[in-house]
Amino acid sequence: MCGIVGYIGDENARDIIIDGLKRLEYRGYDSAGIALCTENGLVVRKRQGRIQNLENMIAGEDLYANLGIGHTRWATHGAPSDRNAHPHCDRSGRIAVVHNGIIENFMELKEWLQKEYGIEFQSDTDTEVIAQLIGVFYSGDLEEAVFRAVEKLQGSYGLGIICSEEPDKLIAVRRDSPLIVGLGEGCNFIASDIPAILRHVRKIYLIENNETVILTKNDVKIYNAQRQEVHREVFHVTWDADAAEKEGYDHFMLKEIHEQPKGILDTIRRRMDADGKIVLDGIRMTKAEIENFNKVYIVACGTAYHAGLIGKTVIEKLAGISVEVDIASEFRYREPFVDDRTLFIAISQSGETLDTLAALREAKRKGARVLSVVNVVGSSVARESDDVFYTWAGPEIAVASTKAYTTQLVCMYLIGLYMGREKGTLPQDVYDRYIEELLAVPEKIEKVLRQEKQIENLAKKFYRRDNIFFIGRGMDSAVSYEGSLKLKEISYINSFAIAAGELKHGTIALIEEGTLVIALATQDRLLEKMISNIQEVRARGADVLAIAKENRTAVEQQADDVIYIPECMDEITPLISVVPLQIFAYYIAKQRGCDIDKPKNLAKSVTVE
Ligand code: M6R
Repeated sequence: MCGIVGYIGDENARDIIIDGLKRLEYRGYDSAGIALCTENGLVVRKRQGRIQNLENMIAGEDLYANLGIGHTRWATHGAPSDRNAHPHCDRSGRIAVVHNGIIENFMELKEWLQKEYGIEFQSDTDTEVIAQLIGVFYSGDLEEAVFRAVEKLQGSYGLGIICSEEPDKLIAVRRDSPLIVGLGEGCNFIASDIPAILRHVRKIYLIENNETVILTKNDVKIYNAQRQEVHREVFHVTWDADAAEKEGYDHFMLKEIHEQPKGILDTIRRRMDADGKIVLDGIRMTKAEIENFNKVYIVACGTAYHAGLIGKTVIEKLAGISVEVDIASEFRYREPFVDDRTLFIAISQSGETLDTLAALREAKRKGARVLSVVNVVGSSVARESDDVFYTWAGPEIAVASTKAYTTQLVCMYLIGLYMGREKGTLPQDVYDRYIEELLAVPEKIEKVLRQEKQIENLAKKFYRRDNIFFIGRGMDSAVSYEGSLKLKEISYINSFAIAAGELKHGTIALIEEGTLVIALATQDRLLEKMISNIQEVRARGADVLAIAKENRTAVEQQADDVIYIPECMDEITPLISVVPLQIFAYYIAKQRGCDIDKPKNLAKSVTVE
């Protein structure tokens, strides 16, 4: 969580850093700050709340510097406040640090610094120990002081460091938190993520774990933990900065919902030849290798985990192999049965989710083959995997994931189809039918998007409800988890999703007059059972909004309202039925006046455990 950015060059660092922070705000937004190396020494300004507050604070000030660092925070240690906002300084006020991550041994280091050096801390953060440590080690050589300080740190960090005594130098360090370097002409940048600096550069260095980078305006040197200089290939960013703009939509979330047909088609097209044959170029999956797997483990968090739930059904069905799905933060402490015959699939939009990364490392340690499904090229999950299956969703900025989810689902189908076909266990006609259905999904989603106004009206009808339940059977139950997560994270309505058949075993006790139940009823083979479940909740006073395929009149007869999705195979519905739920959540949140793209307490990239 948290975003860091830094600049060294001939321009005014202040404007470049504020602009970069705005583009990183999705990573955390409870406070922001900037440190500039001016001719009068280090100037640090920080403010609780959004970056706008910081901008307002410095608006009247004549601040000019060619070197600076900035930070947008998602609080871990210490409440969101001015004093806990970054940058943090050493006691001399000459050294400033911005940090993304968590220092696990900060208490121990803090006590040591207090006892040995009598340091009085100015904040409740773990980050301040880094600044104070560098300060006590500093005797005219910032590089040396940083190396010595970092040796003492345990935990995760992406750091930006400047010192007023060395105004021609910006230092960055990475361990388990994302960090990139942007290479300009007569200027260089650091950032947590590419969009922060894409306006200025397209040439990037992806910094690896335990590396330290020394930047001057004309040079960048990367060192490993042994202080040996390392060579890095330049990564050229091909996508456009405009892809990360709202383009007339009120919110990124709505724009990203509308981008799903394209993202899905792009993800399919990248992996399919003209004859409809799935090609996993660059991914090692020979027939022999696939036959050697005796189990697939899918591990992820949040929305990506929900994609994994669908992945289980799809891959088991198409590839005829047992699939387990787990939440990443649980997997690593479960002592799972994973070995060299396991295909471990990590799903992550950002590729930086620490829980997923830790689970991936655990699986690798046990000998599993790691295939990741990732949206951000060059992210940590991608780099640490044996093979990567990129989703082609484009940059996803809204905290609530939408297009990343549906493109992750596409990957589940493609992996299942590919494995089934390679093994020779999937009949050709079944394979062909799936390909045909998958290729038709973008147009079917367009059809759902055309019902946006109707869904907005339903949101206007229901937005005052305090409790909303989501129910479904089979694949619909996995989609209902995702619909419920979307709703609660952006509208703050208490919402609960449950497999419809499980309701009667306890949760139905909560259904009463005025409860809204959203019933997913898209699975034809389970439709009768689902209709019974709808009747059960209606009998207890619930209002029912159903999601069903066109012309399922039995649903219309039982539910109060119905949103229809186009005709398709039961197995494909998750790709389509989630879209009205995303739109519904969006308009409910809008009616309630919520900050849709930046919901409270959340961040886009969860890089803490
Ligand atoms: O970047 P990842 O896909 O690894 O993120 C996992 C979850 O944190 C993420 O999906 C989260 O649940 C979203 N806010 C959901 O909209």
